[in-house]
Order: sequence, then structure tokens, then C-alpha cells
Amino acid sequence: MIVLLVGSGGREHALAATLAKSPRLTRLIAAPGNPGVAQHAELRPVAADDVDGLVRLAVDEKVDLVVVGPEAPLVLGLVDRLTEKGIRAFGPTAAAARLEGSKAFTKALCARHGIPTAGYRHCRSAEEGRAAVEAFGAPVVVKADGLAAGKGVVVAETLEQALEAVAAIFSDPGAEAVVEEFMAGEEASLFALVDGETALLFGDAQDHKRAFDGDKGPNTGGMGAYSPAPVLSHALVEHAMAEIVRPTVTAMAEDGAPFVGFLYAGLMIGPNGPRLVEYNVRFGDPEAEVVLPRLQDDLLELLLAATEGGLKGREAKFRPETALTVVLAAKGYPGEYAKGSEIKGVEAAGKRRGVTVFHAGTKREGERLLAKGGRVLAVTALGADASEAQMNAYAAVDLIDWPDGFCRRDIGWRAAAASEEG
Ligand code: AMP
Ligand code: GLY
Repeated sequence: MIVLLVGSGGREHALAATLAKSPRLTRLIAAPGNPGVAQHAELRPVAADDVDGLVRLAVDEKVDLVVVGPEAPLVLGLVDRLTEKGIRAFGPTAAAARLEGSKAFTKALCARHGIPTAGYRHCRSAEEGRAAVEAFGAPVVVKADGLAAGKGVVVAETLEQALEAVAAIFSDPGAEAVVEEFMAGEEASLFALVDGETALLFGDAQDHKRAFDGDKGPNTGGMGAYSPAPVLSHALVEHAMAEIVRPTVTAMAEDGAPFVGFLYAGLMIGPNGPRLVEYNVRFGDPEAEVVLPRLQDDLLELLLAATEGGLKGREAKFRPETALTVVLAAKGYPGEYAKGSEIKGVEAAGKRRGVTVFHAGTKREGERLLAKGGRVLAVTALGADASEAQMNAYAAVDLIDWPDGFCRRDIGWRAAAASEEG
């Protein structure tokens, strides 16, 4: 079977390494990939958001299955275009990708189906935004939506901060916002493999979004993660699947936009159980780098089953060990950073038992490995529990020689404390 993998981050390296274990795989092609992905795949220089180029590549190479890593091509309708050409694709259609692309869409779906999430108002003017902020009171969460979505999310401690966020969003004509009740609790992520109808539990994880130790500093794409998430007991996972994920999948099918792909539920675990923070319509990054190394089943076979509506009665098995990953980023990230500095010691780190160094933003120049992104490497280690995984991961990180990079030294602190207690 010929598979085309779309994307170029650490998540795609983890997907490539896991797909490569399948006996059904004959060729793995990746577009555009990275030097880590290249250990398992033939690379093609087509960008992950070049929908026309990707469709052409899939046709030319007579690809049997396209696996899409990032959300951008999904939101742009890559899966719809491939399906029109009769090419099988793993990932949601553009209509189903609205679960990530539009916060207002998802909030309305939750409200219609009684799915537990924060109370909200969809605001189409600064006036409506101000009224919503005042109605909820501080703390309150202000999220840009629609055309303004790039302006992100502000968790406002005070009314002044919230009103400022509203003003910033509506400085753009045509902007929309979602104003939400603040949810207290601990965040965790749940992953499901979905075939349009059936949602199969596909692991859980927690990440560290802030740049610096102690969960301080600016928000990033994720500076590290671990799986499983100690806060998610078996009972909480079952509850979240039954009350949040499965009703969402059923609602999407009933509304004529069945969801196929990885559904990533960001959850807030509060005193009254899990509530939905947001959906992503793809795997997490760096969460893929801790969930996939624990998978004990054939990933390719499971993804194929998902594209055929064939997940009913199946189960994905994961090893009980903890996986923990530490992200190495370029100094300055998530702000401005330099590219092109040399990284040494990656091979030695990857030779340690249970360790994989996933490439996220690297390039090869002859024999040399250079940095070419904000998040550059994700160093994953397995351990009997979170503290052992943490020790193993940092032992590997310490073999990497990259003066222009940095990492957090406390990834997994919460889970390691829990494993030491328990
Ligand atoms: P989102 O892009 O919707 O996931 O929001 C980004 C981050 O903001 C989340 O990971 C949470 O840490 C925080 N957040 C979003 N919505 C809420 C909420 N209603 N209550 C508390 N924190 C929130
Ligand atoms: N690590 C967060 C994400 O993938 O969205």
C-alpha cells in the first residue's frame, strides 16, 4: 500500500515512524516532511497547504491512502478534493473541520446537544462583546472567531482586560467573537479515532503551553507533554467519551457532515467533571510524540478502518508505560528567533533505550543538522511512570549540544509528583 503523509512537524515524524511499522506499507511518501520523516519516507517538496499540488502528487504517485497531519489543508478542503478524485484520505472534510475552524459553530453544536462546556455568547459587534463581558463578569474568556480568529484567546482576570480584548477584536470590520464563562480546573487532552460514526478512544495526554519553567511566560504550540494524563482516571475518560466525544460524532453525522479523522478534545477537569474547552480536528503536537510511541496496534490498519466506517467493535491498545517528551526550541521562540544554527548529539540521544528524537523544525546541510523553526526537536522517552520517563527524557536531552536552543527543565512536574506520591 502506498501512503502519502502530509505535514512537516514532530507530529508527522511520529506518524511516519508509527506507519512505517505496518506490514501493509509498501511505500511512504511525505510532503514536505523533514529530516526525521525522511528516515521513514521519500520526501516531495510540496507544501502542506498547497491543496492543488498535493492532489496532483497523490494522483501521479497512485497513492492508496493520504494521511493529513496539520489542520490547514483540512480546513482548505484537501480531503474533499481527494475524495472527488477517488483517492482515499484520512482526515475530516472541510465541513467537519469546522469543529476546529469555527468556535461559534462548535459552541452552538454543544448547546443544541447538551454537551458540557462553558456558557457563551456569540458576538457580532463590539457592543454585543461588551455586554457579554459585563454579563459574565471577571474572570471571563474572550476568543476571536471567524475572520479574526488569528487574534487568539484572552483569559481575562479583570473586566478592563476583557474589554480591551473585545476592542482589539472589533477593531477589524467583520470581526466576530465568542465570550465565555471562565472554567476552573486542570486541563487534559483526549484523543479519539473516528470513522464517521464510531469514536475509538485513542489515548490521552497533558501538555505544557507556556514557554518557561513553572508554566510561566508566553503561550506556545506546546513545550512538552506526557501520556497518559494522571488526572484522567478511567472513569473520567469514559465519562468524557460518553458525554462529549460520542454525542459530537453523532451530531456531526446527523447534520450531514460525518467526522472522519483524529478528534482531539481539550478538556477542563473541574469539580463537576470534564467540560469541553475546544476541539482540534487533527492530532496534537507534541501530543502525538507521546501517544503514538505507546500504541501497540497497527496504525495503518486502524486509519484504513476509519476511512471505511469499520471501527465498530474495535479497540486501540496502548502500553501502560508513560511517555514524556521535551521540546527543544530556538532561543526567542515563540517570539523572533534565528535560524540555521547547528545541532549536535541527536544521534547519541536517540540511541538511548526507549528514546526517540522527533524532528520538528530541522534541515540537513550535507552531514550537518541545522535548526529551521521555532520548535525544533521533541525528545521522547518511555518509563515505568512519569518520574522515570522524565529522568530518561532529560538524560537524552543532555546529550544534545545546541547552544542556540532552550527547553523547559520541568516537563511533567505535575505527573511526576503524582507518580512519586502514588
Ligand atoms: P482555545 O483556543 O479555545 O483552546 O483556548 C486556549 C486556552 O485558553 C485553553 O487551552 C485554556 O487554557 C484557555 N481557555 C479557553 N477557554 C477557557 C474557558 N472557558 N475557561 C478557562 N480557560 C479557558
Ligand atoms: N499542543 C497543542 C496542539 O497541538 O494544538
